[in-house]
Amino acid sequence: MSVHFEVAVLVGSLRSASITRRVARALIANAPSSLRCKLTEIGDLPLYNEDLEGRVPTWSRFRGEITGSDAVLFVTPEYNRSLPGCLKNAIDVGSRSSDKSAWKGKAAGVVSAAPHNLGGFGANLAVRQSLVYLNMPVMQQPEAYISNAADLFGEDGSVKSEATQDFIRTFMSAYGQWVAKIAVSPAG
Ligand code: FNR
Repeated sequence: MSVHFEVAVLVGSLRSASITRRVARALIANAPSSLRCKLTEIGDLPLYNEDLEGRVPTWSRFRGEITGSDAVLFVTPEYNRSLPGCLKNAIDVGSRSSDKSAWKGKAAGVVSAAPHNLGGFGANLAVRQSLVYLNMPVMQQPEAYISNAADLFGEDGSVKSEATQDFIRTFMSAYGQWVAKIAVSPAG
């Protein structure tokens, strides 16, 4: 019997024409058969405010989706050389209460994308900074900073360049191996 792992895919952009969402679709389309990837929505999460604990159904829904996953793939654009507020908010929501963080031990991957040349490098590292504190084992290599992403991906997740297609497959294959390694012996 083959083993499957559930992967929550988070996209750090809320706009309907998001380039990053296209990248996420391409990553999902090229995932190895061992991964069941599902886009996990973050646009309906109110800004984190401890006063509202126990009263926000979408926080409960989101925490449940992360808890029920074996792994999390973050796909993010860059805002002002960092991660967008919507993605940071989702990270914060999932991290509370502190003794029940939904993130702990989940095998993480980080992909950044931009329509410019730097591939969202600053956002990628900013996401990784939070994952250290959240005790998420993050795949280190290959790194994925996707430049000129608007030209490389179709709406449906199609990839318009052979080199990019190869890279996406290589990344997802490595991530599949990472998830298999971590998910059977979760951290702390
Ligand atoms: C941006 N953009 C941007 N791009 C970049 O490469 N580095 C940056 O620091 C920023 N900063 C930034 C801030 C804000 C508030 C916005 C709205 C945009 C441009 C960004 O890469 C571009 O809008 C992408 O298309 C955003 O990703 P989605 O929404 O297409 O997925």
